Amino acid sequence: MTAVAIPGVDNAPTTHERLLSWVREVAELTTPEEVVWVDGSDEEWTRLTDQLVEAGTLTRLKQKPNSFWAASDPDDVARVEQRTFICSVDPEDAGPTNNWMDPAEMKTTMLDLYRGSMRGRTMYVIPFCMGPLTAEKPMLGLQITDSAYVVASMKIMTRMGTKALEAFTAPDGTERDYVPALHSLGAPLEPGEDDVPWPCNEEKYISQFPETREIWSYGSGYGGNALLGKKCYSLRIASVQGRDEGWLAEHMLILKLISPEKKVYYIAAAFPSACGKTNLAMLEPTIPGWKVETLGDDIAWMRFGKDGRLYAVNPEAGFFGVAPGTDYHTNPNAMRTIEKGNSIFTNVALTDDGDIWWEGMGEPPAHLTSWKKQDWTPDSDEPSSHPNSRYCTPMAQCPILAPEWDDPQGVPISAIFFGGRRADTIPLVTESRDWQHGTFMGATLSSETTAAAKGKVGVVRRDPMAMLPFIGYHAGDYFQHWIDTGKRADADKLPKIFYVNWFRRDENKKFLWPGFGENSRVLKWAIERLEGKAAAVETPIGYVPTADDLDLSGLDVSKEEIEAALKFDADEWRAELPLIDEWFDKMGAKLPTLLRAELDALKTRLSAE
Ligand code: GTP
Ligand code: MN
Ligand code: MN
Repeated sequence: MTAVAIPGVDNAPTTHERLLSWVREVAELTTPEEVVWVDGSDEEWTRLTDQLVEAGTLTRLKQKPNSFWAASDPDDVARVEQRTFICSVDPEDAGPTNNWMDPAEMKTTMLDLYRGSMRGRTMYVIPFCMGPLTAEKPMLGLQITDSAYVVASMKIMTRMGTKALEAFTAPDGTERDYVPALHSLGAPLEPGEDDVPWPCNEEKYISQFPETREIWSYGSGYGGNALLGKKCYSLRIASVQGRDEGWLAEHMLILKLISPEKKVYYIAAAFPSACGKTNLAMLEPTIPGWKVETLGDDIAWMRFGKDGRLYAVNPEAGFFGVAPGTDYHTNPNAMRTIEKGNSIFTNVALTDDGDIWWEGMGEPPAHLTSWKKQDWTPDSDEPSSHPNSRYCTPMAQCPILAPEWDDPQGVPISAIFFGGRRADTIPLVTESRDWQHGTFMGATLSSETTAAAKGKVGVVRRDPMAMLPFIGYHAGDYFQHWIDTGKRADADKLPKIFYVNWFRRDENKKFLWPGFGENSRVLKWAIERLEGKAAAVETPIGYVPTADDLDLSGLDVSKEEIEAALKFDADEWRAELPLIDEWFDKMGAKLPTLLRAELDALKTRLSAE
């Protein structure tokens, strides 16, 4: 067999055998025009972004330094859950919440798709690390992609390039393991064929192979489908690694709360996509004396430390935040982060003077170029920005970044918040009785669907621990893993678990709770509960504060509204029970008996109401 010489394939700045042979294998399969080893330098960023501007994928912004506007193909705007697969050997291991396909069958199908799929394009090799490079065991990955947009985005979102590649070899000279992550847009170019600004393919596959820790993605250039370090690695594959090794990979923000007495608390919170993680992570407290610093806005890896406490690390290095609704009122720190530049904005609107705009930024300008690249005026029928449009910006630019964000030890978590988007039933905040009850809260978490994934918006669905699209194995086993985690530490060292809902509405669909910076009042109550200082009422669903238990000083909301937001309504909860039953039945024999017992106990308490 004569191997075709592909320019660049042998320019490898490494001698890592496994890595080299995989890169060569993929190059021979996908037949790109050339192979480029990504070094992560600023020169490389400039070269790639210039090239992307030339290709029409990016437009350079005049009003923000080193920043770019991108408009995707209108059919490539969100994660594609229907096309996401967990390819475990045994279908049972994918469970009832994932799409499953046999790994061998999936590989046969995808090998066919990949064959020649990079023709006429450049194949980029991106060594990357999720979490600090200084970790004892750095969590490495190698993404191969034919998208320069993906390379630029990965520079923002991960620690990548030469510094990551160096970590592929341990100090003792041994080759470290890594997650191979293959991505192709599925848009080969024939000789002489003109490229389109956003190449992609109608046929899409986002495949995870949990046993072999591999990721194969095809057909999409959009964030969660294409930046494979994020959801594919840091949640789907990492959740399996966590199960096997005794740690947790979660869809959680990490924040540092500093009290007026300068006491420091770290909080992790899991809300489904587009339900407020990024907002809470960068919160500006409205109550005097309290301060928030940010460590992460989307993903937390949590391991027990030597002291028996649970420590969280954010595997990412950037924010990939929902743009619409973000402004100086709702999330000033996100605005300050993007103002510094070095960012990519996808599917927002472009102003005539070369800046970005989206719904929620105040009065719209008289004219915009919409995310569909059409003329837009305030009279237009459609929003100027896609509801799932995003800013991609380096975390290091965040003005309230916690100095310890890059510490490989992570930070000890005092409280975990679960939350969803529910118009009724779920009170503003409820404290769990203990870890097991908190696990029950997380396992039964529900939320109305949003634009962050393709599909209908506004439908209530169970989204356990906000991980529904991200658990890389059987959800019942995942619940058991949570319960087991609680047994591995002393109860007083475990984080306390709370359930929040910023989205309860009145009969006119108006939010009952003002949210955003005012959520600091809920954080304060939770911290005071840890300290044994705040009061609460015991209800069948857990401990709920009254309006008097919350610090509401200076808040311009009527007491009736606060009480409605906090209300435990036994009838609403009785209506919820069959939905939880149905959800648990779906888990079959893998539902932990302790969770069934939690549900039975809830039923008993509710029937006594
Ligand atoms: P992913 O990045 O997709 O995982 O989502 P996320 O959880 O980070 O969502 P994000 O913080 O970007 O929230 C997006 C939506 O939630 C926007 O529409 C916000 O306006 C809304 N939102 C966030 N916090 C609050 C709040 O406290 N109250 C209300 N009413 N809306 C909120
Ligand atoms: Mn997310
Ligand atoms: Mn977010």
